[in-house]
Amino acid sequence: GNRQAGIIERYREFLPVNERTPHLSLHEGNTPLIYADRLSKELGLNLYVKYEGLNPTGSFKDRGMVMAVAKAIEEGSNTIMCASTGNTSAAAAAYAARAGLRCIVLIPSGNIALGKLAQAIAYGAEVIAIDGNFDEALRIVREITATHPITLVNSVNPYRIEGQKTAAFEICDALGSAPDILAIPVGNAGNITAYWKGFKEYHQAGKSGKLPHMYGFQAAGAAPLVKGETVEHPETVATAIRIGNPASKEGAIAAVRESDGLFEAVTDEEILEAYRLLARSEGVFCEPASAASLAGVLKLHKAGNLAAGSTVVCVLTGNGLKDPNIALKTVAAEPKAVPATQEAVMQIIESAGM
Ligand code: F0G
Repeated sequence: GNRQAGIIERYREFLPVNERTPHLSLHEGNTPLIYADRLSKELGLNLYVKYEGLNPTGSFKDRGMVMAVAKAIEEGSNTIMCASTGNTSAAAAAYAARAGLRCIVLIPSGNIALGKLAQAIAYGAEVIAIDGNFDEALRIVREITATHPITLVNSVNPYRIEGQKTAAFEICDALGSAPDILAIPVGNAGNITAYWKGFKEYHQAGKSGKLPHMYGFQAAGAAPLVKGETVEHPETVATAIRIGNPASKEGAIAAVRESDGLFEAVTDEEILEAYRLLARSEGVFCEPASAASLAGVLKLHKAGNLAAGSTVVCVLTGNGLKDPNIALKTVAAEPKAVPATQEAVMQIIESAGM
C-alpha cells in the first residue's frame, strides 16, 4: 500500500511513533483549508474554514483514532472501547475494522445523528445504547476499561490528542504560520486541547512565527466551560457537543488562558443560521456542531469584538451528511413529487420566479 498516506507518516517526527508502531491509515488528514470568499468580504476578515468533514469517516476524529488504534495494536490490545455522541464511534469502528480489532461503543440512546449510527453499524462495531447522556456513557466506559483488558479510545487517551494536533500543523503549513484566531466548537474539549498543543509544538520547532488566540464555542444549553460549572442536563440541537462535563476541561482552560483566547456560548438558532449560511453562501456543508465555530465568529463580529482584517480559521469538525434529519427539518421540507412531465416541472420553476 501507500506508506506515505495519512497523518502518522506525514507528521512522524512530531508523533509518538517507533519501529514497532504499525503503518495504519485510511488516508486521514490533509483536509482542505478553504477561503470563505463571500463571508470574508462581508465581515472584513480573512476567513478560512478547515473542512474536517472530508476525513475518511467524515470527521476530525480520524486523526486521533488512527494514532490511538496504532498504539493499541503496538501494545498488544485486541479490543477498543469508547463513549460517543457519534463521530468518535464511527472513527473507532472504522479503524478497528481496518486493523482487525474488536470495537465496542456506548452511545446516548436517541441522541446521535442517523449517519453516525449507520457508520458504526456498517463498520461492524458492537453498538450499545444507554438510557443516559454522553457524560454517563463516558463514566461507564472509563470504569470498564480500567478493570478489563480493553483499550479506552476516548480523547482521555493521550494518543488521541497527539493525532488530532496534526490539524494545527496543516493550517500552519497552508498559511505559512498560525492564524490570528482559531475558532473551534468545544464538547468534550479534546480537540481544542490538541490544536493548542499542535500550535505550540510547531511554533517551538520554528514552523510558525506566531501563536493564535484560541476561541472555543459551546452550545448555550451545553456550555460548562462558559459557565464555569458542570451542566447536569445538557441540551442542544448540535448532538455532537451535547456534553455537560468535558473530560479535557483542564486542557481547554489552559489553551484559552495561555493564548489570551475566550470561551463563548452560541444558541441553537445561531448555530443553525451559521450552518445554513456556510452551505448556501460558501458551498460547504458541515454538521450543526461544526457550525458553532462560525456562529461564534458571527456573534463576536456583530458585537464589534473582532479586529478588521484578522485571519480567522473556523474548524468545521464534521460533514453535513452525518445528520440528514437536521437538514430536512431546519432548511426545507423534503420535496413533494409532481407528475413526470415537462409542464409540471416548469410550473414549479416559474412559480419560484425566472
Ligand atoms: N464537532 C463534532 C462534529 C464532534 O463530533 C465533536 C465531538 C466536537 C465538535 C467537539 O470536540 O469533544 O474534542 O471538544 N464529538 C465527540 C464524539 C464527543 O463522541 O464524537 P471535542
